[in-house]
Amino acid sequence: DSAGVALTAPGMERVAVRKKAGRLANLVQDIERDPMPDATVGIGHTRWATNGVPNDTNAHPHTSRDGKVAIIHNGIIENASQLRLDLQTEGYRFVSETDTEVAAKLLGKISDKIIEETGKPDLFKAVRRLARMLEGAFTILATDVRQPDIVVGARHDSPLVVGLGEGENFLGSDVAAFVAYTKRAMEIDQDQAVMVSADKVVVSDFMGNIVPDPKTYTVDWDASAAEKGGWDSFMDKEIHEDPAAVQRTLLGRLDENGNINLDEVRIDEHDFKAIDKIIVIACGTAAYAGMVAKYAIEHWVRIPVEVELAHEFRYRDPILTPRTLVVAISQSGETMDTLMALRHAREQGSKVLAICNTQGASIPRESDAVLYTHAGPEVAVASTKAFVAQITAAYVLGLYLAQVKGAMYRDEIAQTLESLKDMPRKIQWVLDTQTKTVQEAAEQMVDAKSFLFLGRHVGYPVAMEGALKLKEIAYVHSEAYPAGELKHGPISLIEEETLVVALATVEKLFDKTMANVREDKARGAHVLGVTTEDFAGEIEKYADRSLIVPKAHPLLQPSLTVIPLQAFAYYIALARGCDVDMPRNLAKSVTVE
Ligand code: M6R
Repeated sequence: DSAGVALTAPGMERVAVRKKAGRLANLVQDIERDPMPDATVGIGHTRWATNGVPNDTNAHPHTSRDGKVAIIHNGIIENASQLRLDLQTEGYRFVSETDTEVAAKLLGKISDKIIEETGKPDLFKAVRRLARMLEGAFTILATDVRQPDIVVGARHDSPLVVGLGEGENFLGSDVAAFVAYTKRAMEIDQDQAVMVSADKVVVSDFMGNIVPDPKTYTVDWDASAAEKGGWDSFMDKEIHEDPAAVQRTLLGRLDENGNINLDEVRIDEHDFKAIDKIIVIACGTAAYAGMVAKYAIEHWVRIPVEVELAHEFRYRDPILTPRTLVVAISQSGETMDTLMALRHAREQGSKVLAICNTQGASIPRESDAVLYTHAGPEVAVASTKAFVAQITAAYVLGLYLAQVKGAMYRDEIAQTLESLKDMPRKIQWVLDTQTKTVQEAAEQMVDAKSFLFLGRHVGYPVAMEGALKLKEIAYVHSEAYPAGELKHGPISLIEEETLVVALATVEKLFDKTMANVREDKARGAHVLGVTTEDFAGEIEKYADRSLIVPKAHPLLQPSLTVIPLQAFAYYIALARGCDVDMPRNLAKSVTVE
């Protein structure tokens, strides 16, 4: 909702700051019109408002009283009101409503104190002192005109990663920020500070103890993967990457002895065998992937699986034992709600396995085992390829548990993996044959005020995902229900021309779902049906329009059923003139609670 930069160079009296409300393009245009000075270091920020409305003043960076120090900040400083009052009593004035300005003024004060004590500036020390005074979640980056060759960062609960270049170094919330310049990255752990210059990176804890050997890794995708590459939008590109996302997530999972491999496992086989319950924690789309996992894992492994929104889980005293496996699903690996829930689970003695798309992110780092979804970077706010990759990974996890616990025969596991390997081809078939019909349906329904998505069995979480996509990017009211639930209340919403999207891809429940469709039609609903090839002729008798997906094992069907729904939301949003990649009010990675 706003963006800004602060630049520092030798000889500057004050940090050069420029910030603008609105899209990043506003800031870019402003700087092109009126260029900023050359600099040796810079910090930049895009804001998602938490404290104070999105305007030029509240945008970051914020500066110290004398303008010599500037900071940018992600997170929420919970003791900002008290710190602000203390500073106000000392005569400090504030121009913005943000917690970040409080931290900036305080950092200025600390920096001056250090100069008084030692005779020279020490931004690294000042940021560490500041970090010890702040409560809440934060990643802070700071620059000081008196040390124009360094940038200093500190993190507590919010993400921060270093990019290691040649004669230049970078800091970002995420490797995507610098992958165009370097693929070598360094992890910054919880409660660590970092000082970066062109040729040096020093990491310490908040007390100043140097971390001798911070972990480094190489990013396994290219900058081009995070570019549009000829597509009109990232969302369209990423929907078309659904087949590849599934394929890559399955790659190398089966070794020569027919055993399934996870990426990192810090849980011994004995503990895995003892697991008697699974709780999936996740938010949004990732939680719907968890709901799909429940159906498959309970069927294959015969242990109960609960799915819980991470922000609810943490505050309700869930029953967790060392025999509970908590599965944290997250595309970004930085969703604060999921991270906090994971920490809670580990504190209670449960093991945590992460299903994550982002190498080196906080969630996989803090988990006992990791299964990466190798979907490649997902840029559009609406999750698409990550969802199909997440359910694929969840299937792999289910089969892995079945293998460890001896719940399925080896050849049965291998056969299921074979069917999974055929999914990319089938998804591609949907994209190739159904896109035109989806687009026509979307154009016909573009003015609808409300949608009802119905599904049964594994179709239900897919219905939830379809409804979420539509609200998120097209701003249309949409709800999802298990089709059988309609008669218990929601059917009263149906009137002439209500739009119903009915998912009837679970073969054994086709007739029951069609009975529900007939009930809706009898009350005036307009129905878009989704079914498998075998029922293509049948569904035409009931639905006004239909979309077809190939038939698969019933538990694997969601990987196919969701594809036309992603495309449907995309085309509705497009026809309504919405920005499909950056829907209003949303951030790609939700790093606040
Ligand atoms: O990065 P995560 O998978 O943890 O994100 C969870 C949700 O915030 C995310 O899935 C969100 O619901 C998407 N924008 C949905 O398209």
